[in-house]
Parts: sequence; C-alpha cells; structure tokens
Amino acid sequence: MSDKPILFDELDPDPRLLMGPGPVDVYPRVLRAMSTPLQGQFDPQFTRYMDEVQVLYRQVYETQNKQTFLINGTARAGIEACLTSIICPGDTVLAPIFGRFGHLLKEISMRAGANAVSIETEWGKVFTAEELESAIKKYKPAIVAISQGDTSVTVKQPLKELGEICKRHGCILYVDSTASLGGNALPVDDWGIDIVSAGLQKCLSGPPGSSPISFSDEVAERVLDRKHTEAGIRPPGVKDADGPIIQSNYFDLAMLMDYWGPHRLNHHTESASMLYAARECARVLLEEGLEACQARHQKTSKALRAGLQAMGLELFGDQEHLMDNVTGIYIPAECGNGAAVRSDLLNDFGIEIGTSFGPLDGKIWRIGTMGYVCRQANVLRCLSSLEMVLKRHGFNTKQCAGVDAAYSVYENG
Ligand SMILES: Cc1ncc(COP(=O)(O)O)c(C=O)c1O
Repeated sequence: MSDKPILFDELDPDPRLLMGPGPVDVYPRVLRAMSTPLQGQFDPQFTRYMDEVQVLYRQVYETQNKQTFLINGTARAGIEACLTSIICPGDTVLAPIFGRFGHLLKEISMRAGANAVSIETEWGKVFTAEELESAIKKYKPAIVAISQGDTSVTVKQPLKELGEICKRHGCILYVDSTASLGGNALPVDDWGIDIVSAGLQKCLSGPPGSSPISFSDEVAERVLDRKHTEAGIRPPGVKDADGPIIQSNYFDLAMLMDYWGPHRLNHHTESASMLYAARECARVLLEEGLEACQARHQKTSKALRAGLQAMGLELFGDQEHLMDNVTGIYIPAECGNGAAVRSDLLNDFGIEIGTSFGPLDGKIWRIGTMGYVCRQANVLRCLSSLEMVLKRHGFNTKQCAGVDAAYSVYENG
C-alpha cells in the first residue's frame, strides 16, 4: 500500500436537466436550506422547526391530522413506517395493482405479516370505484393500500370515492402519494384518506431522503394499542400496550409520535439537513399555492404532450387518467429499446429521461415535468433536443413541429 490516501476528485458532476420520473432538479432555495448549520434535536429552536414542519405538511396534505411528520429515509421508508405500524400480523391487506408500486405495497404488507391480496389491471389503466368496492366486498380487508400516481405507468388512480367506500366497509385506506403530491390534488381529509405518505424527490422538488406522512386519530389509536417503548428510554410508570409489538423499531409510529409530540421522547437522531429540505419544499409549494402549482403541472404536461404528439409520437396509458407530472410515450420501432436515444439525450444534451419497468421496460420512455423542472423553457429544450436525437436514430419528424405545438399551448391555452 502506498502512503498516500486514495482521495478521488472533488465532486464535480456535469450539469443535468432531470426530466425522468424522479428524482428531479431540486429548488435552489431547498439546496440553500440544506446548507443551514445543524442543531441537535433537543435544541428548542430545532424542536420549533420540527413543529413548523408539522404545520406546513398539514397544509400540503390539506388535513387537520395532528399526526403529521417526517420519516427519515426515501419514500419507501414512509411506506414501510405506515404499513408496518398499522398491519397486525394476519390482517388482510388489499393492494390493487396497476403498476410497479402496487406490487411494492403488496410485498411490504406481506413482509409485515399481512395476508396480502391484490387485484390487477393492465399496466396503463386504473380501477373504477365499482371494481375496487367489489374487491373489498370479496376480500374484506382490514386495510386497502394503493398508490395515487404510479410513475411506472404514468397514470393516476381516482381516489375521491375510495375513502367513503373504505369507511362503509370498515377498512383503513392507506395512500402512497410519493409520485403525485404537490402536482396533483390530494385533499386528504375531504377524500377520507386515513393514512398517507410521500417523498420529496418528485413534485416537491427536494432531494430523496425524507418522507412526509400523515394519519388520523383513529389510525393513531390503532398504532398506540401496539405501543412498546424501547426499554432504555421508557419513562417510569409507562407500561407496554397489549397489542402485538410493531416489528420495526426505526419505523415504529407509536414511538415516533412521542418523538415528534410534546414529550420529545428520544428515538433516532433527526436528519437535520433533510428536515431543513422538507421544510423548504413545503414553504415553496405553499407560497406558490396548491392550486397554482397543480395548474402549472397540468399546463406543462399539456404542452409537452402536444409537442410529442405533433412529432408523431404516441402517448402511453389511459388518456383520461394521466398523472399531471409525468408522461409516457411509446418508443418508436426505429429506436429499438430506446436506450441509445436516452444515452444521446444525456450525453449530448444533458437531459435525463427514463424508460420503465417490467412489461414496459424498453417499450416506453417517461418524461417528468415536476416541481422546479416543470416550466416552459425545459419543455421546449426537451422537445427540440429529442427532435435532433430522434432524427439521428432514423425517426424523422416535421421540423420544429413539437416546439411549435408546445408554444401554441402556452400561447393559446
Ligand atoms: C409511486 C411511488 N411509490 C414509491 C416509490 C419509492 O420511492 P423511493 O425510491 O423514494 O423509496 C416511488 C419512486 O419512484 C414511486 O414512484
């Protein structure tokens, strides 16, 4: 071994425009917030920031839920915290599958000891309220776990009626809003959603690594029935609940309620920089306004889609139920599995777009227009770059047709 340490170069990544299905470019304000000096989690100023985060995400989720806080980890950490804490071993969980993430919800439920069942629809389609209700009647689940928007298929499951259906049948409704929150409407209380989680790296335009969650008092009671406090921090006189212990310590919502609540009972070391990021993501969104932000996502997707179609590309998925922040298009035959086009876009134009998973791998491209990225200049840049790259791969479009069509959406609505 040489005496010299192996250091590598200082980080200096090439600039990219992240127009894939997420992560996306982070709002500069959020990046700045992340470089704020750290504090300890018992510092009264820091606990005030924690309280502020709760107030901010209640507004983002349009909920009065007292229990609204962050899980440290990517969106999947939020999903695991929610499902692991509400599923008692043996509970039936219905996970309707319309893309990759329905499979994920089913798998996490199964790992948490559930009798996990599912219904499936062709990728690119969504379920009707009647289909969901008849599955609930058939399986009588304790919990229904569903994604609002599944990025793998770019479609959005309507949820407005599902909360009421679940209430009528006595089941809890859990929603994974990772890919949709911020760019698509999700009034948690109005729609009767019992428990919900998200991530920062899509329409909230933050870095991956923090998951805002929210749950109702009824869900909180269910979780508290299983509360077992870690022995080393258990205050005198506190007894464990009778319900089965929650299998994960890190994702134990009962202990996390004490951590985020007035007791401030210690649990993990709060990831301060991620908390600053999550706080700023919510501030940016609320300052713009929920409706204005959703409208921006709708308009931008409309312009992008008009451009893609004008270039002769075919949109993927049920057109009535598209997400407002990510667009799927079939890869034209001339471009094979589309990998070379993606690679040229990245290397020659600095633009990242994605393909998909499973049956759609190499069949569709996915272009995201989320958060900071969701703006006219990026749509025009993406369409003109794509036109050039497609031409080099043998797929010719009428010159400027894509950009012209997008311009006309911005100019004429
Ligand atoms: C709908 C949905 N759920 C869950 C996840 C998982 O998120 P993460 O990779 O942050 O754990 C994603 C990521 O793309 C997603 O789109």
